[in-house]
Amino acid sequence: MSGATESNKDAPASPRQARGLVRRIGDGIGVEERVLVPARRVGRLVRSFGHSVEGDERLPFPARRVGSLIRWLGDSVEWDDPASDREVIDPKEFRNACGQFMTGVNAVTAIDQESDLAALVVNSFTSVSLDPPLVLVCIDRDTNSYNVMATATRYAVHVLSADQESVSRRFTRSDLSGAEKLDGLAWSPGLGGVPLLSDYIARFECRIIAGYDGGDHVIYLGEVERMEMADTDQPALGYFRGSYYHYPE
Ligand SMILES: Cc1cc2nc3c(=O)[nH]c(=O)nc-3n(C[C@H](O)[C@H](O)[C@H](O)COP(=O)(O)O)c2cc1C
Repeated sequence: MSGATESNKDAPASPRQARGLVRRIGDGIGVEERVLVPARRVGRLVRSFGHSVEGDERLPFPARRVGSLIRWLGDSVEWDDPASDREVIDPKEFRNACGQFMTGVNAVTAIDQESDLAALVVNSFTSVSLDPPLVLVCIDRDTNSYNVMATATRYAVHVLSADQESVSRRFTRSDLSGAEKLDGLAWSPGLGGVPLLSDYIARFECRIIAGYDGGDHVIYLGEVERMEMADTDQPALGYFRGSYYHYPE
């Protein structure tokens, strides 16, 4: 483990140190082991786990997360990867191309340390791992919900049914606060006080175990702590080419 600790003493870490560290982790450093990481380098990430961070404090960080932490730090690790061959990609065209991928529509809710509520619609919900049960959602840094997610410790995902298009439309309104979006809907607090909608096809209550940089979004990996499936024949609400899609009756 000494290599891991060394590589975090001097910023920036050299590519060799970073790779060595990642390799060591890959070689099976115990998941409960912890390495000391300077707090100032992980401020945002640590805040997203609900800790407060002071000056030069060093924080014990789970070894199993350090590989992704180093990738997340990006700017302080100089990778000598080949230059990108990326063509000029227009964000709107990129969105259109991604819209060819048909998805479901999911309502995500969360509560932060100040009890502010997040409520938004995402199609970035994905199952990640069956054992342990892990899912992810990607949250736009420009949304109100991101401000809540940044200090939330849990979130809930509700897979919406075909008759919940109005809920989806309400949850995509940035002019309403999370509490206003929930006003009038049937909901109750779940694990950690996260608002749980009573209507859904499937519902997942998740503990946030990692937040990764995803460009203008943040990827929140969640461990599913509890789940429910509704006893309904209703198909899921779909989204395709920028419009809601209803499965033919
Ligand atoms: C079908 C659909 C899928 C969406 N997927 C996402 C998503 O994956 N992540 C995200 O951050 N926003 C997504 N959005 C946009 C948010 O729902 C929207 O920005 C919302 O207004 C955010 O609300 P807030 O600013 O109150 O948090 C999606 C919108 C629609 C209609």
